[in-house]
Amino acid sequence: MTGTNPTPALYPVPDAFASKARVGSRAAYDQLVAAAEADYAGYWAQHARELLAWNKPFTKTLDESQAPFFKWFEDGELNASYNCLDRHVEAGLGDKVAIIFESDDGIVSKVTYKELLSRVSRLANVLKAQGVKKGDRVVLYLPMSVDGVVAMQACARIGATHSVVFGGFSAQSLRDRIEDAGAVLVITADEQKRGGKNLPLKAIVDEAISLGGCDSVKQMLVVRRTGGSVPMVAGRDAWLDELTASASDVCAPEWVSAEHPLFLLYTSGSTGKPKGVQHSTGGYLVHATLTTQWTFDLRPDDVFWCTADIGWVTGHTYVAYGPLSCGGTQVVFEGVPTYPDSARFWRMIQAHKVSIFYTAPTAIRALIKAAESNAEVHPKQFDLSSLRLLGTVGEPINPAAWEWYHREIGAGKCPIVDTFWQTETGGHMITPLPGAHALTPGSCTLPFPGIDAAVVDETGKEVPWGQGGVLVVRKPWPSMIRTIWGDPERFKKSYYPADFGGKYYLAGDGAIRDAETGYFTITGRIDDVLNVSGHRMGTMEIESALVSHPLVAEAAVVGRPDDLTGEAICAFVVLKRPRPTGDEAKKLAAELRNHVGHEIGPIAKPKDIRFGDNLPKTRSGKIMRRLLRVIAKGDAVTQDTSTLENPAILDQLAQSN
Ligand code: WT7
Repeated sequence: MTGTNPTPALYPVPDAFASKARVGSRAAYDQLVAAAEADYAGYWAQHARELLAWNKPFTKTLDESQAPFFKWFEDGELNASYNCLDRHVEAGLGDKVAIIFESDDGIVSKVTYKELLSRVSRLANVLKAQGVKKGDRVVLYLPMSVDGVVAMQACARIGATHSVVFGGFSAQSLRDRIEDAGAVLVITADEQKRGGKNLPLKAIVDEAISLGGCDSVKQMLVVRRTGGSVPMVAGRDAWLDELTASASDVCAPEWVSAEHPLFLLYTSGSTGKPKGVQHSTGGYLVHATLTTQWTFDLRPDDVFWCTADIGWVTGHTYVAYGPLSCGGTQVVFEGVPTYPDSARFWRMIQAHKVSIFYTAPTAIRALIKAAESNAEVHPKQFDLSSLRLLGTVGEPINPAAWEWYHREIGAGKCPIVDTFWQTETGGHMITPLPGAHALTPGSCTLPFPGIDAAVVDETGKEVPWGQGGVLVVRKPWPSMIRTIWGDPERFKKSYYPADFGGKYYLAGDGAIRDAETGYFTITGRIDDVLNVSGHRMGTMEIESALVSHPLVAEAAVVGRPDDLTGEAICAFVVLKRPRPTGDEAKKLAAELRNHVGHEIGPIAKPKDIRFGDNLPKTRSGKIMRRLLRVIAKGDAVTQDTSTLENPAILDQLAQSN
């Protein structure tokens, strides 16, 4: 242990929590870590055998022969849907509530495990009747809904690989993903309801397909959500309820190899094109199940609520798979935290007696702001005493928001699990186990047992505690990304780059370990990836969208800190015409913002757009983004600008806000 400047762990584990927790002390955690170190493969093999039902047991745990294309449990056979549904029904839990669904307009319905199995089986039979086969890709463009979970599970049941596209992505983004995945079928809904509005879905799929390149799509199934009128293409489109009504509700699960791709999920990287992150069936489900049990300490009588949309990885692992694999009861919510008012979450926790609540720091910050300006939506108006555990995900949580969450939502008695992970990691990587770790606001504490995370320098050497570096994972783990769909080279280059000897998984984040406790704090992305409200956006994706506008000659996008969204998107734009000012600049900025929204989706709209005659460039023509970051923040440039070709441009950009 080296370094000075100790930060004490401020919040000890409450005794009442530790005494009942699955991992109930630091010593118990240390023992698990030691067990994984002593026999790494044996540790994971044991969990894989204990946590899941295998149709054919695996004989080999980890295959490293084609590293970094690691394989786990490969000769074992299982089915994810069987593990999430049938085995609970067979164990007598058929009448247990699997999902408490609350719609945008507040209508509540409950679905038992037996009913969920029946719905999944019907849809699985429909998919088979439509010709969908094992290994085919199915794109889901759906609202946050029971139908969404059913569709994912139905794909898993027949061995089809699902690729969920978040319902906020544009037709163009959807088209790119359909084409890259080579999807044979798309499941969508007529419309979605969010925040009291009906928003189109099917119309966007139609537009995506009309953009071309989606010839692989043979069928479209449409969920009836709002009853809004949508044109149906004869021979291609069908209403899902009409097909499932006459389908059998018995469908034998398709047993697949543990390595069979369960899903693809597209995420942003530092180059323009989103990457199709490919996940396995066995290893993924092992970690989804284990983290749900240990990080969330999920028990049979808990009511678990993860607010993430199924369009993101959090909604995969901690809505569609983890809680169901554990036989838990969970809330699924269609709407948004601010409708009909900013007390929606608190009212729902009270109504459904939620005991474990998992959300994003952005949502917490927005709700703090609302509660501070309007007493009616303050959480103290509600009975939140059912809560026993809180969690956050997706971005760093600032200590002030952490303290508020702990005090106002958790009544000072609920531990907070600040879970660090990524689309690529499949499940939690660095997170407190709530019965084991004292908590420091802003720190995700220590690696999940069996995850070999470390902070290293550019040469791959571990740095002393107290010193910042690059976050890596030194050993493969079961739920890791298997490859980038269709681009194994990019997989290697992105995650196992040669500069770290090609041996460690590179997360793309910086981190520092506390000098005293060794606790990790994530310091943010080290690549050209932004995190806006917990959503990952590539700067190059946004730049490409901007330059696709006929008026734009050049664009550079950087992030700047934002109190509410964590980071905000700031775009510097050079037009093909003289630099606009005043009202004209405002009008053009609005137009470009909408253009980006149309190209990628509303989440990618830049908050600031600044126009310049040029961008700060080196003599070799490289855009100096670090200077743009300083200007975007509103700070004065104090860095060395001697390599700049055109230093005067800095003043112009600084004033162009
Ligand atoms: C990136 C991954 C994990 C599901 C949602 C996001 C950031 C994630 C934390 C956290 C600080 C975090 C990282 C990471 N991130 N969780 N607890 N503390 N930063 O998944 O879209 O793949 O984004 O989100 O920068 O690399 P994602």
